[in-house]
Amino acid sequence: MTDITELWLTRNDIRNSKVVAKPAPALGEDEVLVEIDKFGLTANNVSYAVAGDQIGYWGFFPVDDQWGIVPVWGYATVTASNNEGVAVGDRFYGYYPFASHAVLKPGRIKPSGFVDVAEHRSALPGLYNQYNRTSAEPEFLKGMEDERCLFFPLFVTSYLLYDYLKDNELFGAKQVLVGSVSSKTGFGLAHCLHHDETVSARVVGLTSPGNVDFVRSLGICDDIVTYGDETAIDASVPAAYVDMSGDGPLRVRLHDHFQDNLMVDTMVGATHWEAGGGSGELKGPKPEFFFAPSQIEKREKEWGPGVIFGKALQASADIANSVKGSVEVEKISGAETGADLWRKLVNNEISPRRGLILSLV
Ligand SMILES: NC(=O)c1ccc[n+]([C@@H]2O[C@H](COP(=O)([O-])OP(=O)(O)OC[C@H]3O[C@@H](n4cnc5c(N)ncnc54)[C@H](OP(=O)(O)O)[C@@H]3O)[C@@H](O)[C@H]2O)c1
Repeated sequence: MTDITELWLTRNDIRNSKVVAKPAPALGEDEVLVEIDKFGLTANNVSYAVAGDQIGYWGFFPVDDQWGIVPVWGYATVTASNNEGVAVGDRFYGYYPFASHAVLKPGRIKPSGFVDVAEHRSALPGLYNQYNRTSAEPEFLKGMEDERCLFFPLFVTSYLLYDYLKDNELFGAKQVLVGSVSSKTGFGLAHCLHHDETVSARVVGLTSPGNVDFVRSLGICDDIVTYGDETAIDASVPAAYVDMSGDGPLRVRLHDHFQDNLMVDTMVGATHWEAGGGSGELKGPKPEFFFAPSQIEKREKEWGPGVIFGKALQASADIANSVKGSVEVEKISGAETGADLWRKLVNNEISPRRGLILSLV
């Protein structure tokens, strides 16, 4: 009998967690049990928990009304199978619980992977229900497993943001302001803009004082501005704001400073999850959520199936290679250590120089 370990969070207070150990459940029809080899942990996972009820992230690996398990990106190996199309030993990249094991229900099985067709996941965004068979992945990805866990879900978004900005000729902006630029999603975007010779706009990174040296070490921002010093940015130069922070007061200050010279305000994340997003009446453009699937759909039509994903994966590999030495990958195991790191992450006590890869096995 396999024992499984999970980290449960109270849904209305994500700082509070408990480690739960229990026997693996008996498998139902077509179900498989996977052992989760490793997964990445970043502020993105905190955002999943913060938006757990609103967007439905608690629904992927449900517990009950009070408790939830936060989803993570990682690799897992099948250890028991009731499914003819998936064998013990098969390995998959995808969306897993913060746990040692998970029960999945593979359907629409292809050599490249499967979709989890469990009833409770059917209404959730399809992207998260897709599992990629590692043996069928492109060669260049096979050697980048840690990077795939830690960076790729974020750098793919960075690339899509970059593509979206370029596709819209930067909305007429001559500088791009990146909120929470020390985040992986943030510096990934700054990287793409900085390394594109056809982009002449300046890249201005916004961050907290403690993260300035880290951002400077990446060499991808023309200017780095700390929170509270936004008036140091030249407001006569039209700007595009791409925000990973979700920080409402920061948004108000930028809109006040730039007024109609703010060409677009694109909301992506909420690393400053306790700052409050409510911003009331704003001068300048109405903030809009970035909806990656729209940009993907547009490019699928224009470029053909899979091309945008191929480009995003290649860009992710390039960015990951460029930050070797700046972000130190740490492999950490154990449920209690995992719970401690979760608390630190929620409290902003993890330096952007640390890349956390966890295993609860
Ligand atoms: N909409 C989408 O499709 C999409 C896709 C990917 C990511 N995202 C979002 O983008 C955001 C960034 O994710 P990531 O995984 O790239 O982040 P990350 O690398 O873990 O970001 C770390 C940085 O975030 C800030 N931060 C982290 N925790 C904080 C806290 N508790 N309080 C205040 N600041 C904190 C700090 O940056 P500063 O000091 O520089 O602020 C820190 O250096 C997340 O909200 C994520 O959900 C959205």
